[in-house]
Amino acid sequence: MFRCLAGLLIVCAAGAMCAEQPVAFPHDKHIKLGLACIDCHIGADLRDRATIPSVQKCMLCHAKLLRNDAEVKKVIGYADKGIEIPWVRVYGFSTDAHVKFRHEPHYRAGIACATCHGDVAKMSVAEPVVKHDMGTCLTCHRQRNGPQDCAACHY
Ligand code: HEC
Ligand code: HEC
Ligand code: HEC
Ligand code: HEC
Ligand code: HEC
Repeated sequence: MFRCLAGLLIVCAAGAMCAEQPVAFPHDKHIKLGLACIDCHIGADLRDRATIPSVQKCMLCHAKLLRNDAEVKKVIGYADKGIEIPWVRVYGFSTDAHVKFRHEPHYRAGIACATCHGDVAKMSVAEPVVKHDMGTCLTCHRQRNGPQDCAACHY
């Protein structure tokens, strides 16, 4: 597997492209601080969408911390202008596929983030290392008694 380097488009595992992100946000360094996934992705346990944190969340620390770091300067730049960081999505489905995915039931069933997203704690920017398609959903649903009717996953 190739690592994603800021400023480059590189083919990742699973054949997908690593997105070039506006800020090289290091997951690994933040997890080492003791932050949990759901401290930033606040919907991943109880809601449909995990969500990406607002730049205001970053500023809770970076208003004071590492202000002279080149990447952190970009973060502060967005916050000063009052705009969100335009993160490029890593996972997701085309709207044509009419898929509805909800995090909450999966969290309740005790499925780890890493099962569907890989070991993000060791990544810098998130990489699409796990394939999400109808086959991967159904394989687990057959094993774990998840729903298999079309209407459960499609609208
Ligand atoms: C709880 C405090 C905290 C929050 C919240 C936080 N950071 Fe950090 N961030 C840190 C600390 C501490 C470091 C330094 C970690 C290290 O060097 O090991 C860091 C490092 C970084 C770096 C890398 C600097 C470098 O060159 O190594 C970037 C970029 C960054 N943060 C961006 C963000 C963004 C974007 C957000 C919001 C999504 C965010 N941070 C939220 C505390 C925080
Ligand atoms: C059963 C598989 C599965 C598990 C478990 C899972 N996710 Fe996801 N996650 C997905 C899928 C599928 C998407 C894309 C959903 C979409 O775009 O409709 C996604 C999207 C996301 C996104 C993008 C923002 C969003 O809300 O769409 C984040 C961030 C995320 N997941 C974080 C997490 C975290 C953190 C955990 C663990 C608490 C987790 N996920 C557990 C499958 C999973
Ligand atoms: C300090 C806040 C922070 C923490 C803690 C954090 N993330 Fe993230 N996460 C982000 C930001 C910012 C992005 C957008 C940049 C990117 O894609 O790497 C992101 C992106 C993601 C994505 C890609 C979402 C998409 O579809 O675009 C996944 C999956 C994800 N994180 C999972 C996790 C998991 C799993 C953990 C815990 C091991 C975790 N994150 C911890 C801030 C955080
Ligand atoms: C690793 C296993 C696993 C994977 C992968 C997985 N699921 Fe699930 N899913 C489950 C389990 C277990 C349940 C049942 C939870 C329950 O009954 O409480 C479930 C429940 C659901 C439900 C029903 C939610 C509700 O309202 O009760 C939907 C919809 C769903 N999954 C969609 C998906 C989609 C779409 C994907 C692929 C993108 C997917 N799942 C991938 C294990 C998985
Ligand atoms: C467990 C969840 C799940 C169930 C159940 C499920 N699907 Fe899907 N389906 C998906 C996901 C996720 C995708 C998107 C795959 C992708 O983007 O690669 C998809 C894609 C599709 C597509 C392709 C759409 C496109 O854009 O080309 C069709 C057609 C489809 N499903 C039909 C069905 C039918 C018919 C059933 C019932 C027999 C069904 N699906 C049951 C999750 C599910």
